[in-house]
Amino acid sequence: MMQSSKTKNQPIGIFDSGIGGMTVARAIKKLLPNENMIYFGDTAHLPYGDKSEAAIQAYSIKIADVLLKKGCKVIVIACNSASSAAYELLKEYVRHDAMVINVIDPMVKLVTHQFAGRTLGLIGTKRTVQSDVYTRKIEEANKGITLKSLATPLLAPMIEEGFFNNQISHEIIAQYLEDEHLQHIEALILACTHYPLIKKEIQDLYKGGITILDSSEIVAQALKDYLTQQDILASQPHTADHFFVSDYTDSFETSTKIFFKQKVHLEKMTLWR
Ligand code: DGL
Repeated sequence: MMQSSKTKNQPIGIFDSGIGGMTVARAIKKLLPNENMIYFGDTAHLPYGDKSEAAIQAYSIKIADVLLKKGCKVIVIACNSASSAAYELLKEYVRHDAMVINVIDPMVKLVTHQFAGRTLGLIGTKRTVQSDVYTRKIEEANKGITLKSLATPLLAPMIEEGFFNNQISHEIIAQYLEDEHLQHIEALILACTHYPLIKKEIQDLYKGGITILDSSEIVAQALKDYLTQQDILASQPHTADHFFVSDYTDSFETSTKIFFKQKVHLEKMTLWR
């Protein structure tokens, strides 16, 4: 399909329940520095991990409206909980106006190629684990993979408060990993925006014995592949990324440093008036 230069230079929309999705935004910026990003963090409704599927679907539609109005060529659902609850609906809703990319499919593609016949573990929010989406998609691929999943709801707020690489985070992570649901696994999927920040700690706890998979770079690569294939990679550099949040606090802005590795200016945009 031939695309106009206007299409190439339209922004990429990325959304999450809050600021954790900036781990994905950062990986995208690193791989695709020319792209103009519009990030939306739904801080007014955080955390999504404890919300119902219906609530997350309603928020996601509202956010998609914002990103479409801003002319986004692609919408990346950076949040695992929103990818579990709202991807199919959003794809239907957005239709031809933009491509929708979630954080689950690129990971499922990777594990079904690289871990056939193996037993894998997964940690994520209650919404992601209860949805069983990873299990369903991995089973559909029929590669003899067994997936053992555990909801680890303490981890996201812990990381947001800056508790990682210390004794407290070490204890909490160790407790979760010792759970009977996660025994005898050969790789662990980090199915949450926040977990790249504790990847190293998890690796240390397993003493390098298993592969730890986080999706930020895998998703950025899937996005690049799609833009290349459609011939809509940005043709000129952009410097004007925007980061919107549905509720602003100084502490949200301070936390951007944790996830984006540099402090970014947050602009408030109310979803419901
Ligand atoms: N962004 C969420 C996810 O990846 C974690 C934080 C939340 O529960 O909102 O599932």
